[in-house]
Amino acid sequence: MRAIAVINQKGGVGKTTTTANLAHGLALMGKRVMAIDLDPQSHLAAHLGLFERGQSGIDELMLGRLDIGEVEVVDARDNLRLIPAGADLGLVERGTGDGLPGERLRELVQSYKDSCDFVLIDCPPASGLLIDYALTAVDETIVPVAGDYLALRGLSDLITTLRDFEEKHDLVSFNQWLVVTRFHTRRRLSWEVRDTLISYFPERVLATPIRETSVLAECPGFGKTAFEYKRGNHGEADYGALARNFVNEEYADER
Ligand SMILES: Nc1ncnc2c1ncn2[C@@H]1O[C@H](COP(=O)(O)OP(=O)(O)O)[C@@H](O)[C@H]1O
Ligand SMILES: [Mg+2]
Repeated sequence: MRAIAVINQKGGVGKTTTTANLAHGLALMGKRVMAIDLDPQSHLAAHLGLFERGQSGIDELMLGRLDIGEVEVVDARDNLRLIPAGADLGLVERGTGDGLPGERLRELVQSYKDSCDFVLIDCPPASGLLIDYALTAVDETIVPVAGDYLALRGLSDLITTLRDFEEKHDLVSFNQWLVVTRFHTRRRLSWEVRDTLISYFPERVLATPIRETSVLAECPGFGKTAFEYKRGNHGEADYGALARNFVNEEYADER
């Protein structure tokens, strides 16, 4: 089982889109996937068409109200299950920081050692307690980086944050991946972002960039992934390729 947190302190870079579509892509490859929504905004459940108000979720476990075996797991798709955020996840973020919620999350993830091939955790933006807890529970991260936004300063901030993560969590047991999202094939900036990331993080940038496409912007509104919405779209092709990259650890080389 591989446990992965999808992180980036910026919002709108494609964390939730990547979690939902990579999770479904892996499930369609026959892998058994558990997706955990660790964002109090519950976007992942909504993205998969499974949001219900008042839903119980990972919040109850992290607040110590439920035991591991009692956590509600939703069947999302064939081979894909979801643990929703729950209404009180925001309380975890405002907790005492004693590390217990992270420990509980880690134990939950470990309990899927034999029944899952991948556990994917969708994280909120900003770098607060929830991110620290997520990083306690996983041994890999995926950092989506938008290919369209980066002024150099944004990029150096991101690189500093990633280096901090590396230092905080012993890199030897911690595998960091980057995915270029919102990629414009014909825009020079997109290629520059990709090249810069590859030069700072050689062998860490997954081979397939995810193109900007209206389908990926539209499908969450229908509670669908790119694999279910308008067949033959770029999102389906890119996330399908990314799932294979991830399984086989295929990274991008510089141009
Ligand atoms: N490759 C893409 N092409 C077009 N729209 C995208 C793409 N990736 C994400 N989006 C859209 O951008 C917005 C932010 O993406 P999201 O995955 O929610 O980011 P985050 O979780 O990092 O805040 C969403 O409306 C999403 O549908
Ligand atoms: Mg999100």
